[in-house]
Amino acid sequence: MTTTIKKCTLEDLPDLQKISYETFDETFKHQNSPENMKAYLERAFDFKQLEKELLTTASQFFFVYVNNELAGYLKVNMEDAQSEEMGDESFEIERIYIKSAFQKHGLGKYLLHKALEIAAENNKKKIWLGVWEKNENAIAFYEKMGFVQTGAHSFYMGDEEQIDFIMTKTLIQFV
Ligand SMILES: CC(C)(COP(=O)(O)OP(=O)(O)OC[C@H]1O[C@@H](n2cnc3c(N)ncnc32)[C@H](O)[C@@H]1OP(=O)(O)O)[C@@H](O)C(=O)NCCC(=O)NCCS
Repeated sequence: MTTTIKKCTLEDLPDLQKISYETFDETFKHQNSPENMKAYLERAFDFKQLEKELLTTASQFFFVYVNNELAGYLKVNMEDAQSEEMGDESFEIERIYIKSAFQKHGLGKYLLHKALEIAAENNKKKIWLGVWEKNENAIAFYEKMGFVQTGAHSFYMGDEEQIDFIMTKTLIQFV
């Protein structure tokens, strides 16, 4: 199994839209109404919206491939691209999604390590993310990776208010 990673550019927009849609749908459709899923998917992964995000300099997207097949993606944010005001010393993992067929093979950890590497290169002090309180699989993964719950915020999935846990990992500085 050969694993490769690449930073996305505007040329990747069609593939980004497809994988964003597909992975969000397979992760959450069993716990949400079709109407709320449709509303969220159409808004969050609209072509123009994703184009704007790809052009935001304080955000970065990465694709991970297994044997040249697209298997997952990562989105990270710095500075004012963060989805909450956490300050310039913080670094956000906004999305980390592995297609179900490729999960539990170390790819989530691989992307998370990529995020940690970028955060360290940019001298960030903490890395944080929001995860739906009912996404037990992802919460267990983040705990395994050393994140702890430090807060919560509400989030709208269509017309339903949901709670996201904020989870944080402090980055050790060696300098
Ligand atoms: C959450 C997700 C990114 C994890 O990626 P993954 O490739 O399946 O996980 P990995 O194989 O890299 O696991 C890394 C480590 O976490 C552990 N782990 C993963 N899922 C776990 C779980 N549900 N419970 C306990 N440990 C878990 C693994 O055992 C592994 O441990 P190790 O380092 O000792 O080997 C992936 O399952 C996913 O994309 N889920 C759907 C989308 C999603 O929910 N994204 C997060 C939105 S906030």
